[in-house]
Amino acid sequence: MRNASGPRAPMPDDLSPAGAVQVGLGSRSYEIRIGPGLLADAGSAIVPFCTGQKVVIITDETVAALYLEHLTDTLGDAGIAHRTITVPSGEASKDFSTFERVAEEVIGGGVERRDLIVALGGGVVGDLAGFVASVVLRGIDFIQIPTTLLAQVDSSVGGKTAINSSHGKNLIGLFHQPRLVIVDTDTLDSLPRRELLAGYAEVVKYGLLGDQDFFAWLESHGDALLAGDPSARSYAIRVCCEAKARIVAKDEREAGIRALLNLGHTFGHALEAEIGYGGGLLHGEAVAFGMTLAFDLSARLGRCSTGDADRVRAHLAAAGLPISLKETPVQNPADAADRLIGHMWSDKKVAGGKLTFILADGIGQAVVTQDVPLKDVRAVLQAAA
Ligand code: NAD
Ligand code: GLY
Repeated sequence: MRNASGPRAPMPDDLSPAGAVQVGLGSRSYEIRIGPGLLADAGSAIVPFCTGQKVVIITDETVAALYLEHLTDTLGDAGIAHRTITVPSGEASKDFSTFERVAEEVIGGGVERRDLIVALGGGVVGDLAGFVASVVLRGIDFIQIPTTLLAQVDSSVGGKTAINSSHGKNLIGLFHQPRLVIVDTDTLDSLPRRELLAGYAEVVKYGLLGDQDFFAWLESHGDALLAGDPSARSYAIRVCCEAKARIVAKDEREAGIRALLNLGHTFGHALEAEIGYGGGLLHGEAVAFGMTLAFDLSARLGRCSTGDADRVRAHLAAAGLPISLKETPVQNPADAADRLIGHMWSDKKVAGGKLTFILADGIGQAVVTQDVPLKDVRAVLQAAA
């Protein structure tokens, strides 16, 4: 990755335990605790939220093999009764049939309204478990313990819960805020490189949408973060969580600025829909492709410089993320543009019959707009074939 000439944010030695990030939502406010080794003590962190009799852990098969025992041990030490529901790993578990099975198992095991669901895993588990928690008994509390970089910087914070529809991604869901988010940065040690990179795309997103200094910092420290440097990792996760907390506190239900968090998603979701969920492209990879095109489109429309678009492309490519269609499993990239535009119309980013795009007036200056000619969207997609 190239060295940035811009200003650099300082990198602290590490995060202090007092450094929890607050999500300020009045009576529904909660903390995001970030640091190494937090899973081992999760039981005592959860006790104050455990007003009912028991905890239902929802996790996936991969995470269960790695971390479930750590969680059940600490819950046991804290005297919290618990049971576990495990789903297959991967995006396919955000479907109706898995939702039905999990909800029925939660209810069948004798859940009460003051019981607690704990989501242990990546964004798939978090979105699914959060949705189950939001509807079972008309809503019970839940806690997020995210174990992927993507989930630690994005999906575990902000209360969006969802499963996928055959018509598109995350189309069935509710806003339901967690009571607590526990980010144990050590869990990233076992994350496959490709999943780490997919999460890194979401990290880059925060720089691109609103923090040019953070993007410059990533240009010079992104390698260290991806290599597992604990300080770089904790620092970046904290910056992202602080940014997301600020945005969610101002606009919980995405009536305005929260939409900026969808940078890269209009193109990215269309690509995911075209390829098929679980069809070989990770969500973060789709977002990386989408952010590249969002900046290409911004440059084409004269909103940002081609230099900014080039800088985005160069950084994502250097990290090893896909920035063109031929780097993805999409069929026939050369004539994919209209198919992708077709998927955009099924996404929930359509408002008043118009497609919504997050474009940028420069790095760190994202804007929401519906004022985008389709011929320009088509042109950047064709150029990205
Ligand atoms: P994921 O949950 O499928 O996890 C990726 C893979 O990594 C899975 O196979 C999982 O088993 C494995 N894994 C998880 N933690 C691990 C660890 N510590 N070590 C080894 N393997 C581990 O995918 P994801 O990228 O975390 O999340 C993607 C999902 O998040 C998508 O469905 C997306 O729509 C959703 N999302 C939601 C929001 C939101 O605001 N709710 C935001 C962004 C993305
Ligand atoms: N990941 C987008 C949001 O939480 O709004």
